[in-house]
Amino acid sequence: MDSYDRLPYDTKPGRAMHPARLLALARRSGLACAGPDTARVLEIGCGTGANLVPIAAAYPRAEVVGIDLSPVQIGMAAADARALGLSVRFETLDLHDLRGDPFDLILCHGVYSWIDDPTRDALMERVRGLLAPSGVAFVSWNALPGWHVRGALRELLRQHVADEPDLLARVAMARDLLVALASSPLDAGLGALLRDRAAHLLDASDTYLAHDYLAPHNTAVYRRDFVAHAARVGLSVLCEAEPGSDAAPPGTDDVMRLAHDPAQMADFLAGRAFHRSVLCRDDAVFGPPDATGMAFRGVLEPGGAEGSAMRFSRRGVPVMATENRLLAVALTVLAERAPAAIAADALEAVVTERIGIPGTAPLLRRALDTCVEHGFVELLLDPPAIPTRLGARPRAWSVARHYAARGQAWVPSLVHEAVAINALDASLLALLDGQNDRAAVLDALVGRHPGLTREELEVRVPGRLAMMVASGLFEPQEAP
Ligand SMILES: C[S@@+](CC[C@H](N)C(=O)[O-])C[C@H]1O[C@@H](n2cnc3c(N)ncnc32)[C@H](O)[C@@H]1O
Repeated sequence: MDSYDRLPYDTKPGRAMHPARLLALARRSGLACAGPDTARVLEIGCGTGANLVPIAAAYPRAEVVGIDLSPVQIGMAAADARALGLSVRFETLDLHDLRGDPFDLILCHGVYSWIDDPTRDALMERVRGLLAPSGVAFVSWNALPGWHVRGALRELLRQHVADEPDLLARVAMARDLLVALASSPLDAGLGALLRDRAAHLLDASDTYLAHDYLAPHNTAVYRRDFVAHAARVGLSVLCEAEPGSDAAPPGTDDVMRLAHDPAQMADFLAGRAFHRSVLCRDDAVFGPPDATGMAFRGVLEPGGAEGSAMRFSRRGVPVMATENRLLAVALTVLAERAPAAIAADALEAVVTERIGIPGTAPLLRRALDTCVEHGFVELLLDPPAIPTRLGARPRAWSVARHYAARGQAWVPSLVHEAVAINALDASLLALLDGQNDRAAVLDALVGRHPGLTREELEVRVPGRLAMMVASGLFEPQEAP
């Protein structure tokens, strides 16, 4: 039995893999790719389908196909798609056997490094062979030099469990070693690095430990070697799916000035361990960027004034400050509306109205473009609508309700992230079906959670609903 059949991977949606985002990056580069509504989307090595199912639900007219070698995982994916009434096609297939018509978007997360060398070559050849002329592919891979220490720990764990044939017993043995390592007094050199990494890994799931640290294949490569591999099959690296994530660390200008290959140098200086690359065909034809259907989503929170500049942070960490009032107003508007995206024209109109100076749109567009490059603003093409306020009878997204109902500890959001939920959230999601008003929801919850009185529910439920709204868990019909 394949190890993924025995211990399925904890596949999750990933914001960087959303078609609205990847196809926006393609259009921004001048590729005349399809829009997400009508795109043909393929995921290679789709695992349990939890990345592809939310995509198929968000874009019911798109043609969505997922393949994986593991029949158990494909069975799980197909069951979720069936329960949600989606037309996505899941197929148990070896990627070597992939054939067919071209795709506008190919997703391949957590596969490139996890397979043997001939399969990796076949993967890149299939991606090239199946990519539409203006299409893009997302391929993630483990990177050096960041994976050197992880690789040493992986080797240590693999040597430790080498004589144990049973997968789950191997995981248990590895975990025991990690516990001992993490609490050891090693405080210098490689030992200290291994201890820190072991402590970090203790939080990981059994399936992550099994497939990333104990499986036979996990090949990390340098960026220049990934780029060369892509080039050998006729692919070019267009950009990172997380714009700005390949930047050099602050304060390294003097080193970067000497770099022959700045992107590779930046990886060394940052100790990068992972990349999410967006690839296109090397014969792709680039035209002028097409801004039709483009929208922006805020990812920063306003952090107050600093002299004449306005500060912005991400998850509480300061990331930028700007004296450009136009941009500061735009980032504030985006933060107010997040997780909903705002169409480019609508954002320009709101900003113009707030600052009271007409004719600033071109300046704003340039400033926002720089923000997109740095990952301070998300650029999206035809994103799904997300309400930011609850209606009288709130309806949570059917996909989130489905995953919660089958007992999963996280649910997909319309932002395309996995949102952790607790037992109270799961009960709430079951009740948020568009039939119950908030009073009825509260009534139905009373008595369901021992230890939570009506009074306590009255305090806690509004907070959980606010979390769900902010995470993008409600269906568009709920917009006021
Ligand atoms: C690390 S998992 C990642 C799964 C999923 N993409 C995710 O991120 O959760 C690697 C996946 O690649 C699949 N895989 C490995 N070799 C394959 C092959 N030759 N053809 C198709 N899928 C393959 C495995 O079954 C497994 O589901």
